[in-house]
Amino acid sequence: MSKTQPLYHRSPFAIFMMFLRIALGMGILVGACEAQLAYDYYKFSCPNVESTVRNAVLGVVLTDPTAPAAFLRLLFHDCQVQGCDASILLDSKPLNGNFEIASRMNFGIRKMETIHRIKYKLEAECPGRVSCADIIALAAKVSVALSGGPNIQIPLGRKDSTTSSRHAADVKIPPPNITVDTLLDVFVSKGLNLEESVAIMGAHTLGGGHCINIVDRLFDWQPDDPMNPTFKAMLRLLCPTQKPLTNLTIVPNDKTSLAFDNYYYKDVLMGKGLFTIDSRMSIDRRTAPIVTEFAANKYRFFQVFSSAFVKLSSSNVLTNDKGEVRRKCNQVN
Ligand code: HEM
Ligand SMILES: *[C@@H]1O[C@H](CO)[C@@H](O)[C@H](O)[C@H]1NC(C)=O
Ligand SMILES: *[C@@H]1O[C@H](CO)[C@@H](O)[C@H](O)[C@H]1NC(C)=O
Repeated sequence: MSKTQPLYHRSPFAIFMMFLRIALGMGILVGACEAQLAYDYYKFSCPNVESTVRNAVLGVVLTDPTAPAAFLRLLFHDCQVQGCDASILLDSKPLNGNFEIASRMNFGIRKMETIHRIKYKLEAECPGRVSCADIIALAAKVSVALSGGPNIQIPLGRKDSTTSSRHAADVKIPPPNITVDTLLDVFVSKGLNLEESVAIMGAHTLGGGHCINIVDRLFDWQPDDPMNPTFKAMLRLLCPTQKPLTNLTIVPNDKTSLAFDNYYYKDVLMGKGLFTIDSRMSIDRRTAPIVTEFAANKYRFFQVFSSAFVKLSSSNVLTNDKGEVRRKCNQVN
């Protein structure tokens, strides 16, 4: 008898275990980044978490219809630095000014006070259970649905970070004039494919931007900027000087900036993308066909946005004993 047994002599169980080990080793059975998140994470520990978040967001939307945009951008800026871990909410004294929100890249971030208020409510309902990172993700998800976008199911169970760094935000949050190469690097590193990377930028269907983020393209000549000249003239009326005199003006991201729809892609195709990167996506040979597809097919956009959203909001999360559930979202326990 030869010592190396051929495969078919092993018991079915042993063969199954061997394949299981190979599959696990290659990460086939467990998606690498959302491994420990679960769709029913709060089923027993805080069953009403989602409706609590939805009601709070709804209350804010009634007085400020631009709020959904703020929650959606908050999620991106949280996830972009150290992963989706509520590191953007830390601002307490011991950190001595070295926290993400102090970075100029977080200029214009709004509605953090609502997240703090939701946390306060949830601490009464289910003390010590729901992380601030999950509240940010749920507020963004609810915001998309309330604005007319898809109702996306997201897995939960993120833990909160114990650190936050201003420098990390300076480096990690992309400026509005990034290239398509950099854009794809940002999202491919989170597991989004090309189509999903174009879809997640469809978040710019909501909200707006301040003049400081667009004046460069209005007053400096930019080679191959496909901006529509009439649109440019209109923006110059809203943002009349290269160095803005105030930060009060906000220019809408697309024609229907309160509604989650596919007008962003239609605008971008007509040279009416607000930021340089929005416009660049309409002429890059990799992204342009996808922009065209989403401009023509809202349901395809919603479908791909949904899978992109789950990937973005599950990227680099802390789970189980990594991280904590903060008692107050702006300070570590
Ligand atoms: C990676 C490329 C991205 C760049 C360069 C970028 C850049 C910007 C800039 C410069 C603003 C204007 C901020 C202001 O002046 O107040 C903005 C607004 C916004 N961004 Fe992005 N963004 C990117 C990706 C995303 C993603 C992935 C999301 C969400 C999933 C997002 C959601 C938003 C929303 C909703 C607003 C409007 C915010 C408001 O009205 O308060 N962005 N973005
Ligand atoms: C973006 O703008 C900044 C500041 O205006 C400039 O230093 C940088 O080179 C620009 N980056 C790209 C990729 O155009
Ligand atoms: C506008 O905001 C930017 C970024 O925080 C800041 O650097 C600039 O000084 C502000 N400008 C005015 C006029 O307040």
